[in-house]
Amino acid sequence: MTKNKNVEELLQKMTIEEKVGQMTQVALDVVLKGDPYEPTKPYAFDPEKLDNAICKYHVGSILNVPTSEALTRQQWHYVISTLQDKAIKSTRLKVPILFGIDSIHGASYTKEAALFPHQIGLAATWNRALAEEVAAVTAYETKASGIPWVFSPVQDVCRNPVWARIYETFGEDSFLSGEMGKAMVKGFEGDDVSHPEKVASCLKHFLGYGMPISGKDRTPAWIPENYLREYFLPSFEAAMEVGAKTIMINSGAINGTPVHANKHILTTILRDEMGFEGVAVTDWGDIKYLHNRYRVAATQKDAVRMAIEAGVDMSMVPDDLSFADHLLELVKEGSISEERLDISVRRILKLKFDLGLFENPVPSESGDYKMFNSFEHKMWSSVTAMESVTLLKNENNTLPLAKGKKILVTGWAAESIRSLNGGWSNDWQGATSDEFAKGKPNLLDAIKEVADEEHIDFAIGSKYDEIVDLEEAIEKAKNVDHIVLCLGEDSYTEFMGNISDLNLPQEQIALAKAMIQTGKPITLILLEGRPRIISTIADDIESILLGYYPSHDGVGAIAEILFGEINPSGKLPYTYPRHANALMTYDHKHTEAVELQGSEIPFNPQFEFGHGLSYTTFEYGNLMLEKNILTPEDDLRISFSIKNTGNLSGKEVVQIYVADDYASIEPSVKRLRAFDKIELEAGEERNLNFSIPIKQLAFVNAQNEWTLEAGTFRVFVDGMEASFELKM
Ligand code: BGC
Repeated sequence: MTKNKNVEELLQKMTIEEKVGQMTQVALDVVLKGDPYEPTKPYAFDPEKLDNAICKYHVGSILNVPTSEALTRQQWHYVISTLQDKAIKSTRLKVPILFGIDSIHGASYTKEAALFPHQIGLAATWNRALAEEVAAVTAYETKASGIPWVFSPVQDVCRNPVWARIYETFGEDSFLSGEMGKAMVKGFEGDDVSHPEKVASCLKHFLGYGMPISGKDRTPAWIPENYLREYFLPSFEAAMEVGAKTIMINSGAINGTPVHANKHILTTILRDEMGFEGVAVTDWGDIKYLHNRYRVAATQKDAVRMAIEAGVDMSMVPDDLSFADHLLELVKEGSISEERLDISVRRILKLKFDLGLFENPVPSESGDYKMFNSFEHKMWSSVTAMESVTLLKNENNTLPLAKGKKILVTGWAAESIRSLNGGWSNDWQGATSDEFAKGKPNLLDAIKEVADEEHIDFAIGSKYDEIVDLEEAIEKAKNVDHIVLCLGEDSYTEFMGNISDLNLPQEQIALAKAMIQTGKPITLILLEGRPRIISTIADDIESILLGYYPSHDGVGAIAEILFGEINPSGKLPYTYPRHANALMTYDHKHTEAVELQGSEIPFNPQFEFGHGLSYTTFEYGNLMLEKNILTPEDDLRISFSIKNTGNLSGKEVVQIYVADDYASIEPSVKRLRAFDKIELEAGEERNLNFSIPIKQLAFVNAQNEWTLEAGTFRVFVDGMEASFELKM
């Protein structure tokens, strides 16, 4: 109530210029010496530019890291204090600056902060509590750097695994993404976002970013409205339920309309239907792109008009102040009303009040942050990686390896920190990981740490797409009992990770084939942002571990799993394809999987969504439904038993899928409707109960409405199946 009063009082006092300024967000480079994108190093504030942006243009928000490299906490403190000092001491209304940052997997732009597995690895844990903890540590370390707003979590579902941003997502499923995102928002924001250890989150990229047809970033997507609503909205809706403060808009175009100019998505769906009251910020430069990339606006000024009319609150301009000039002109000439500005400015000011920025403009001053760079924080990274690393194959129980075995580690990824950290690490592309994380363990170090160093030999064999020396690897393989082959991808971010071939580069395949030729047993460890195709080698390799991008703080988990100190429990958050031209999600349509007259098996992925092995075994039984006839108001109550039938305690992700047998538009073969991660001691048996509101089984029909239709449904748990009838 008081906050709203404060907002209204402040708004009353504001000039149009000040309102436009609040809606303007620039990159830090804009107030530094040098050119934007090329500030002088070491970075230094340019007093004139600072004055121009903050006092003349009343800029309300600033983002990003100067000179594209992580700062220390102390440097951040200096940056934020300088900006707030200017805003508070030298402006009429003393409105603090809202600083935002890409804390994508930990506070990755602050030196010494804990780095976590990327979101795709977090998804593979299927552990909500871990997602909350990871976000809580990230919030703490970001706030310790003086920054109150993170551009995370990514709530896009990725429906095309070629897309270079799949590693930033929770994978292909809306329900899994929604649940994990909800947990992250709780971890970021807590009950009171002004708390010294909490930050505002930003759900991105609203809406429909994860399915470009070509797989290349920011290329056209054609998504029918019912598909958009059924597959892309729920993950955002779930995270909004717990109060997410802001969203970032999808940089792409859907059905020809760039989302930044799409009033239907940004106002009708987001505001009128979903009731979202927070701030909608554009993505990087996206209003300008309406003119110079998408060509839907003939001028830059018209691009601003379109975006504001569509529903944008804040423009991440980010490299100049042109947005403010154009918007001011539009208001003065009457094309945009001052009332329209008020709607957005109200949201922005409310966020600043909610964050406590008026009382505490430099948040790092309000806590002592003793846990920053602590063992406990880094430990959460290992724990996450332990539950994320996914054992995809383990023929004849090749794993775990005995520590006394002689092992050849081969493949460039064993020595690459970029392949552990992926993008958004120290710099945008994560390209400097090997320098900034010097001294941190790579995969080879981690293996040596767990096994006996003298039993480990190394030969690089090949780099990402360049053969270095296969002969050396072949020779060295002769003297060992086992080969650990480390392949995968380098770091990349956004369009810089575009590829035209999902197959793992042939040079790495050549190394794998040379190792297979030796006849020695092989464990393949994959460090990669997206599922690179390995079908030409997978059948000849005994065991496969997928590490995703576990980070240098999490890499130890891979070695511990390799040698059996940890029992793996990660499960795939996407379908791992077998062929580059057969990219299907687990929840495809029946027609996509029907084998017609002896044709090739259409749905035959390398590994299925939800797949992941353990060193123990679980046996499911007694699947029962409380009722076999249900109505839309009911809950579907399911029970079954699960027993750990092996000799080790282990964690299992219990997954419940439901199929709607017949519907007015093609139903999916199945959809994930509930899951939980549980731990069972060796020999332990438990009965589990789940309750799923029938309303959650609805789909979006041809009229774009959520609907339930009478008929039979099937429930799948592990290999078991049960059915019920829905009566209207
Ligand atoms: C990315 C966003 C990111 C923003 C700010 C954009 O290029 O798409 O995910 O938050 O930059 O750095």
